[in-house]
Amino acid sequence: MTATMPGSRSGSRPITAPDIAAAKGSETPLVMVTAYDAPSARVVDGAGVDMILVGDTLAMVVLGYDDTLQVTTDDMAHHVGAVARARPHALIVGDLPWMSYHVSREETVRNAAQLIRAGAGAVKLEGGRKRLDAIAAILDSEIPVMGHLGLTPQSIHAMGGFKVQGKQLDAARRIVDDAVALAEAGCFAIVLECVPDGVARMVTDAISVPTIGIGAGRHCDGQVLVYHDLLGFEDRLRPRFVRRYAELGADATAAVARFADDVRLGRFPSSDETYHMTDQLDDAMDRYSVDVTGDGADVVPAGPGMSVTPPG
Ligand code: KIV
Repeated sequence: MTATMPGSRSGSRPITAPDIAAAKGSETPLVMVTAYDAPSARVVDGAGVDMILVGDTLAMVVLGYDDTLQVTTDDMAHHVGAVARARPHALIVGDLPWMSYHVSREETVRNAAQLIRAGAGAVKLEGGRKRLDAIAAILDSEIPVMGHLGLTPQSIHAMGGFKVQGKQLDAARRIVDDAVALAEAGCFAIVLECVPDGVARMVTDAISVPTIGIGAGRHCDGQVLVYHDLLGFEDRLRPRFVRRYAELGADATAAVARFADDVRLGRFPSSDETYHMTDQLDDAMDRYSVDVTGDGADVVPAGPGMSVTPPG
């Protein structure tokens, strides 16, 4: 690996899509984590991930929808921009939402360009060979494309729900053939979501660009998890493939509950958490009388030299 290749923090320039493509076959698996705003981007970039995916899971884990179909390109660009303002070293991959690459080549390119202008270094889209036209149009505009096969959440109605894909021979073959077509078309990496590990291994062996697995077992060139799953913020769905490294949702609720108790029991704020008047201002204020009648007649104007002690 060179200094700027994935897994290395020593390179000064941000990681690019060609760096990711070149990491195929590397002994160290690639790491991608989602982020949707500047603080989460700082967290995952500080942890040294190779790629930050501003995923359309935004719809579910941040915006509270039940599926990913509700977000628009404007929503995605808004969040890509927030992540980009954290200036991460990791490659920012912006997810193209449902219906942003399904209508025409012109619209597809315009939407992909919107995510790049917002700060992404690449875009991701879902689907196999039927998306080759869209992929070609985006690549033609010099925008790197990441593919996404297996469970493609933008197709939940067609797929009949969030289900593991590729369990039958035909379906498994289709996924491998789709992956080969996407890699040959020029995708720099392919996400494999919720497929049996044997299928993921076949895809990984069949293509010359990295596979990034989520619920696809260990035979991928890299792994991705959703930030809110990994950190224990998301409780509505608990897929088997999620490993939780923290329980920040429960920790956050407990912390806010402690704050509420402190306020209600008069323990917050303390003297140290308060801006105090100078003695001079205190004396001056003592000479003030309250404007009880509200006509201003009995108010003494503030004298010169009044100041508030700056926070120490
Ligand atoms: O939108 C997303 O977060 C994704 C990951 C699940 C790969 O596509």
